[in-house]
Amino acid sequence: PAHIPLAGKTIVVTSGPTVEPIDPVRYIANRSSGKQGHAIAAALARLGATVRLVSGPVSMPDPEGVSVIHVETAREMKDAVEQLLPVDAAVMVAAVADWRAEAQAGQKIKKQPGAKPPVLQMVENPDILAGIGHHAERPRLVVGFAAETQDLLANARKKLEKKGADWIVANDVSQASGVMGGDRNTVRIVSKLGIEEWPDMSKDEVAARLAGKIAEALEIIET
Ligand code: C5P
Repeated sequence: PAHIPLAGKTIVVTSGPTVEPIDPVRYIANRSSGKQGHAIAAALARLGATVRLVSGPVSMPDPEGVSVIHVETAREMKDAVEQLLPVDAAVMVAAVADWRAEAQAGQKIKKQPGAKPPVLQMVENPDILAGIGHHAERPRLVVGFAAETQDLLANARKKLEKKGADWIVANDVSQASGVMGGDRNTVRIVSKLGIEEWPDMSKDEVAARLAGKIAEALEIIET
């Protein structure tokens, strides 16, 4: 029989943005399309993994062969991911909002004649990746992403440490790169061992190659 590289492995993937409410009709979000995260979930499933995708709101359909948990906020995403432990690997691709409004207004905030615009007090969201990277049930392989617009590699190295990740997939999301919402990506895989530079390719190709690398790593860790 053909070798199924990720047979018997369970992998959690996060994808998309998180959406943080201000009041019942307004929210703070970001430009993440979910394309890269969804492509990775699909690629892992094609290699035979049981994939649990925790996704923020995206216009992408659920990937084939993947069970999807739909969430909105960072806190919902964190709860969903932690409830899925233990897993063999975690690939955190979601663009999680760093901050949320401290309090969500129960009613739509009204414009008052003559009044100053409201001031939004923000508080920090939990770091889901760091929570998983330092968790008592830490997966054997923890992969994070680093969407940067400057100092890509220095920031990725810091992130490895701080978040307890094995690999950080660093990508340039400056406007000029066209990565956010686009179909192509140029990534570098930063690990303790060094940096692997991958050529510019489609997000599907990045996903396939990353899934292959994950399968290889899980085999090595096991033997
Ligand atoms: O610190 P930064 O947001 O650049 O880190 C990016 C990586 O951390 C991504 O893998 C992202 O999914 C993850 N992350 C997270 N929870 C946060 C912020 C980032 O899981 N609150």
